[in-house]
Parts: sequence; C-alpha cells; structure tokens
Amino acid sequence: MAKITVVGAGNVGATCANVLAFRKIADTVVMLDVKEGVAEGKAIDMMQTAHTLGFETNVIGVTNDYAATAGSDVYIVTSGIPRKPGMTREELIGVNAGIVKTVVSSCLKVSPNAIFIIISNPMDTMTYLTLKATGLPKNRVIGMGGTLDSSRFKYYLSTALKANPAQVEGMVIGGHGDTTMIPLKRLATLNGRPVSELLSAAALDKVVADTMVGGATLTGLLGTSAWYAPGAAGAYVAESIVRDYKRVIPACVYLEGEYGQKDICIGAPAVIGRKGVESIVDLNLNAEEKALFEKSAAAVRTTNDVLKEIKAL
Ligand SMILES: NC(=O)c1ccc[n+]([C@@H]2O[C@H](COP(=O)([O-])OP(=O)(O)OC[C@H]3O[C@@H](n4cnc5c(N)ncnc54)[C@H](O)[C@@H]3O)[C@@H](O)[C@H]2O)c1
Repeated sequence: MAKITVVGAGNVGATCANVLAFRKIADTVVMLDVKEGVAEGKAIDMMQTAHTLGFETNVIGVTNDYAATAGSDVYIVTSGIPRKPGMTREELIGVNAGIVKTVVSSCLKVSPNAIFIIISNPMDTMTYLTLKATGLPKNRVIGMGGTLDSSRFKYYLSTALKANPAQVEGMVIGGHGDTTMIPLKRLATLNGRPVSELLSAAALDKVVADTMVGGATLTGLLGTSAWYAPGAAGAYVAESIVRDYKRVIPACVYLEGEYGQKDICIGAPAVIGRKGVESIVDLNLNAEEKALFEKSAAAVRTTNDVLKEIKAL
C-alpha cells in the first residue's frame, strides 16, 4: 500500500504522476502545486482515464495542502522555476533553493520517514541542499538526472545500432549537465556485446555527443524542457523504492569516498530499494573516465558553492 506525492504538478510532475497511476506503482498518488486548482484539475483529468486504461490508483490533486500528503512513502520534488531572461545563475539557484528547502521541510513535518527523489534543477545541487538542509541519512535523498540521461543514451545507441532500446544497456554517470555528464561508452552493450565492437569510434562519439545535448535538443524543439522521459524516469526510481526492486539505477547520490569523491551528490550507479539508496556501485573506471569524473565533480562543486554564497546552507 504505497503512497507517493509529486510536488509540482507542471509538465514533469504531472507526467510522473500519470505514469505512477497508469503503471499502478502506488495505491495513492498526490499531486501538490502552489497554483490554485492546477493539481486538482490534472488529478481529475487523470482519474477520468482510470476506466479506459484500467488502473485503480487514486490520484488526488491539492493546492499547497501538505496534510493531504501525510504518510507518503516517497516524495518526488519537481517544483521550481526555469531561468528567466535576465536572471543570473545565482538568482535561479537562490529561487529554486528556497522552493526546495520549504517544500522538503513541509513534507517532513507530515511524513517523517519519507524518501525524497529530487528532480528540480540544478538537480545535483538541489539534491545536496536537501541532504544538508534536512540532515536526513544519505539513503533517503536521491536525485533523478542520470536515470534520464541514461535513457537518452540508450535511445541514441539504439538508433545508431538500428536496435530496440530494450536490447541496449548503457549508463551515464557524473553531473546532470550538458558538459558534466559522462555517457560510459566503454561499458555500453547490445545484447551483451560491447557496442564498441558494433559501431565505429566516430559513430559512438556522435552518440555520446547527442546524449550530452539531449535535453537542449528537446528544449530547442519544444520551447521548454522535456517532460515525458523526465517524468517516466522519476516514476522508475520511485517504483524501485516502493516495490523494493533493487534496480541498479544511475542516480545522484551522496558520495563518501566512492569514485574518489567526498561530500558531494553526483551521478553514480546505485542499488535503489525500499530503504532508498541501498548501496553504491563503485565501478572500476579507466584513467580517461576517472579524469572526466573529477572534472564533472569539480563543476558540480562550483554550483554547490553558490549555496553558501547565497546563504542557502
Ligand atoms: N532532473 C532532471 O532530469 C530534470 C528534467 C526535466 C526538468 N527538470 C526540472 O524539473 C523542474 C520542473 O520542470 P517542469 O518542466 O515540470 O516545470 P513546470 O514549470 O512545468 O512545473 C513546475 C511546477 O512547480 C510548481 N511550483 C513552483 N513552486 C512551487 C512550490 N513552492 N510548491 C509546489 N509547487 C511549486 C509550479 O507552479 C509549476 O506547476 C524544473 O526545475 C526543471 O528544470 C529536471
């Protein structure tokens, strides 16, 4: 009997709630937003698909009513604003940090044992902020970014290989940014065979480059950031928690020595189960991958430093 709350009923949040309901991942899904009526309206719209699609999940929408979310097993935090014209990066971090901190503390008041999946951007920094501001144990705070980036990597691999995405394995680690993510081309496979045996080096490099700008490509086409794959990726992480699937998911997790890093939340493969992050898989990276990881971690730390500059931490 799982209860999952999605905070922010915008593009990503509503899509995530829809996947949670359609795939019957929870008995109750609550959507909460600050915009009067939006979460309520989207919840009723989703419930009007229950008969057609054949699910029994109860989807509820509320306007800033945290009491309705009480007893949630998992919160998926998608609330935030995109960068507006003229806004500096620091200002954006300041606004989203304020939103994420307020949201998470309101959630903990009514669901003290919940696990948090952070989606709001800049995601690695918002995950770090959540962990540090709440003092929660590291297993209960998970950022969703690498899950999505890995889906995009598998999509581009399957396209290059003319294969079904289900036949392809691949993961993206490091920070969740165009220049910080690390698609692990060496470890990607098609039906168990290394893709480096099947694609030319140039073709594989193109897959990596396309993956790294995957989000920006969609923003260019849509005029706003994408939502189907981000929403589905959030639901995929939540499913592994509430069903205790112990999937190995590239997720933003707190490192304490793994990958040579400490005091940072960044993408790494993690076993996700009922306790949240149950363990971190410390892959044996080669020298080139290690150097990329170090560079990525340095970039994430630079963004984390803004939290101190703006006194969010
Ligand atoms: N981590 C990832 O992989 C990933 C992928 C896509 C988007 N994102 C990020 O997810 C966030 C949401 O994206 P979106 O496209 O759904 O945006 P959106 O604008 O469609 O939705 C955001 C929603 O949050 C709500 N909101 C704002 N402040 C709130 C508060 N204090 N409490 C509750 N709700 C609040 C807004 O009213 C809005 O409905 C953004 O920060 C975006 O950058 C992350």
